Amino acid sequence: MTLQRESPRILIADDQADVLESLRLLLKPEGYTIDTADSPDGALLQATARDFDAALIDLNYSRDATSGAEGLELLEKLQGVDSTLPVVVMTAWGSVEIAVQAIRLGARDFVEKPWDNDRLLSILRNQVDLCRALRRGRRLEAENIALLTAEAPDLIATAPSMKPVLELITRVGPSDANVLITGEHGSGKEVVARRLHAVSTRAERPLITVNVGGLPEGVFASELFGHVKGAFTDAKGDRVGRFEMADGGTLFLDEIANVPFDQQAKLLRTLETGELERVGSSKTSNVDVRILSATNADLQHEVAQGRFREDLLFRLNTVEIRLPALRDRPEDIPILANHFLGRFAQKYRRTQMGFDGAAATTLLRHGWPGNVRELAHVVERAVLMAGDDTIKVDHLGLAGGGPTAPVALDEMSLDDLEKIFIEKAMRRYDGNVSHAAEALGLSRSALYRRLEKHGL
Ligand SMILES: Nc1ncnc2c1ncn2[C@@H]1O[C@H](COP(=O)(O)OP(=O)(O)OP(=O)(O)O)[C@@H](O)[C@H]1O
Ligand SMILES: [Mg+2]
Repeated sequence: MTLQRESPRILIADDQADVLESLRLLLKPEGYTIDTADSPDGALLQATARDFDAALIDLNYSRDATSGAEGLELLEKLQGVDSTLPVVVMTAWGSVEIAVQAIRLGARDFVEKPWDNDRLLSILRNQVDLCRALRRGRRLEAENIALLTAEAPDLIATAPSMKPVLELITRVGPSDANVLITGEHGSGKEVVARRLHAVSTRAERPLITVNVGGLPEGVFASELFGHVKGAFTDAKGDRVGRFEMADGGTLFLDEIANVPFDQQAKLLRTLETGELERVGSSKTSNVDVRILSATNADLQHEVAQGRFREDLLFRLNTVEIRLPALRDRPEDIPILANHFLGRFAQKYRRTQMGFDGAAATTLLRHGWPGNVRELAHVVERAVLMAGDDTIKVDHLGLAGGGPTAPVALDEMSLDDLEKIFIEKAMRRYDGNVSHAAEALGLSRSALYRRLEKHGL
């Protein structure tokens, strides 16, 4: 593990102040964070309020000093609150039967008073490690394992206008700085996000992506923060949120402009403190997550319109990486085109393909409203259309001019028309999917599906 998480947090329950004090003196220098309680109720209250890595509890409290009944009761209640919390019990010297009983009820280990410091420390160390491994295992189960591969994607960037982008990736990639990536639709924002993660110290940990724009209405909080069973009608069980999945790694919030306004304060708080509560729970958990976000909207404008919180923007854009549109980095067009040509020729088992001069010129002249994604789709289609190894202008389907070159209406399919309308709307609203969707009378997710379908 490359990353050191925050110090282990231990809950200690004992009604004797001197015991609490000496345990504190023992554990603090070992790097533990200690919370204490002098009664079972107090301990329970703390355990419901936050996550601990282990609990060390005495079995005897004020009610009666020897039976251990109060401690055993507390043990069971603690397990009810969090089944992954390791509980270690402290018993009076010579009361082995009670210790055995506690182990049967689920205590992970026991120490006899007066305790042996080394033994106590080694028990706690083991339990904390086990607990973290167990919790991580549960999170992984909930995750799509495919999301875990932090392979650095191809990032072709030779144009002078891409130099600042490359420099910023090198400079801030390895840090934990939050980065906002802006740029038009299809300009490579996600590629940059994956690159930033891949060069960071978190590369071995998950990169979790949330397409905020694609989330159905009303599920933002539960998707990001998780929920507990019964939090709302459909909450049949507990659910791990994306923040928890990304713990120790990176969370990529795509289409960040679409965070519902009423959720922005909550998101800001988690970004500021690393604390969150699952929907329906009042228990606070801590996460250690680096935030990357992306948008093709103008967030300053969204702030001015009162749709996006300025304080949230300031949290997100510690560093901003602006991706130029493909038409503003023409030097990259031939290189990208050849890159995609190689990829799709291989995919469709063709060899030695190339563009003829006119096709290459057409690629350079095209305006590329859909940027690199559009280029990739055009090349893929051309590979399929070309009968031999040479791609000619016709195969590009760019009609020699821009995407708006006149074509007779009655030669078009409904699909073609749909594509044209969507392109127009996207251009008109500068690639802002929400606004384009509104203008087209579509939901955001319906528009996303169509953008995908038409390769826009
Ligand atoms: N510099 C690049 N080098 C190689 N491939 C690239 C580059 N930029 C983008 N691509 C490819 O182009 C496609 C679109 O890129 P990406 O998904 O990162 O764009 P985006 O800006 O996130 O788009 P959107 O706004 O639609 O979310 C992807 O297939 C990606 O692999
Ligand atoms: Mg994207």
